[in-house]
Amino acid sequence: MGFKSKLQEELESELNEKKLDLLPSGFQTVGKVIIIKLKSELLEKRKLIADTYLKLLPYIRSVYINRGKIEGEYRTPEQIEYLAGEKDPIVLHKEHGVKYKFDITKIMFSQGNLKERKHLASLVKNQEVIVDMFAGIGYFSLPMAVLSNPSRIFSIEFNPIAFRFLVENVKLNNVDKKVIPLHGDCKVEAPRLASQGIEADRIVMGVFPAPKGYIEEALKLTKKSGTIIHYEGIVDGEHELKLYNEFKNIAENSDIKTNLLDSRFIKSYGPNLYHCVNDIEISKN
Ligand SMILES: C[S@@+](CC[C@H](N)C(=O)[O-])C[C@H]1O[C@@H](n2cnc3c(N)ncnc32)[C@H](O)[C@@H]1O
Repeated sequence: MGFKSKLQEELESELNEKKLDLLPSGFQTVGKVIIIKLKSELLEKRKLIADTYLKLLPYIRSVYINRGKIEGEYRTPEQIEYLAGEKDPIVLHKEHGVKYKFDITKIMFSQGNLKERKHLASLVKNQEVIVDMFAGIGYFSLPMAVLSNPSRIFSIEFNPIAFRFLVENVKLNNVDKKVIPLHGDCKVEAPRLASQGIEADRIVMGVFPAPKGYIEEALKLTKKSGTIIHYEGIVDGEHELKLYNEFKNIAENSDIKTNLLDSRFIKSYGPNLYHCVNDIEISKN
């Protein structure tokens, strides 16, 4: 029996048929907490529904509801509200052997990026120098450091709350010898690293809608023998090459050659909108 059917069975005497039908079939699990989304018709019954989730999922300690989007330059979840169980928004989430500690009401954590977090780590070669320009709580820096063997990862993050968790997560995963958290704007920090003579084998540019305004700063870290950039963004179905082309134009103006190695679909982002990543190799002319 699927989870929705179990939920419907438990709530049969409390909700009418139409509302039973509108019950969600899924939820997001982060650590021992679940985050649910409910159709507006079910909101007045949210507490009852949350208590039913707790009853059906004995290993879950709390239920929160997501009533908003992820907004702003800090990529903060706007409305994650407590519903039932223990009222503690700090979770310890484990994925691919990596530990992420964060506050679910203040920090986003996308289930849709699960595969990409592991995939990026699998691309890292021995002793690479990596710059993670939009590091957050260590979404990519941590799996790259834990699952691969880079020499150093410079992880830049400007949101003070995310930065605090990044520092904590680096210690929690015992990668403090490899990951160097830098608190600041990557517009300033990336050129600062370049001025210290750092050349990157790999640069992660993972922020929405697309980090176009930061390409010039990333290019300053180009290594003579070549650098691979993971450039994320949102594209519509008809303009798959948009991300690569915008990157290429800016790179060519700085006399940097580009070569598209891979273009991956990460997740759907809306009607005909897709979160994609381009792996672009760059080298000096
Ligand atoms: C939320 S992450 C996205 C990670 C990944 N793409 C994902 O979806 O799992 C993006 C992070 O970049 C940070 N950020 C945005 N602009 C920045 C900047 N100019 N300098 C440093 N950090 C920045 C945000 O605060 C946020 O923590």
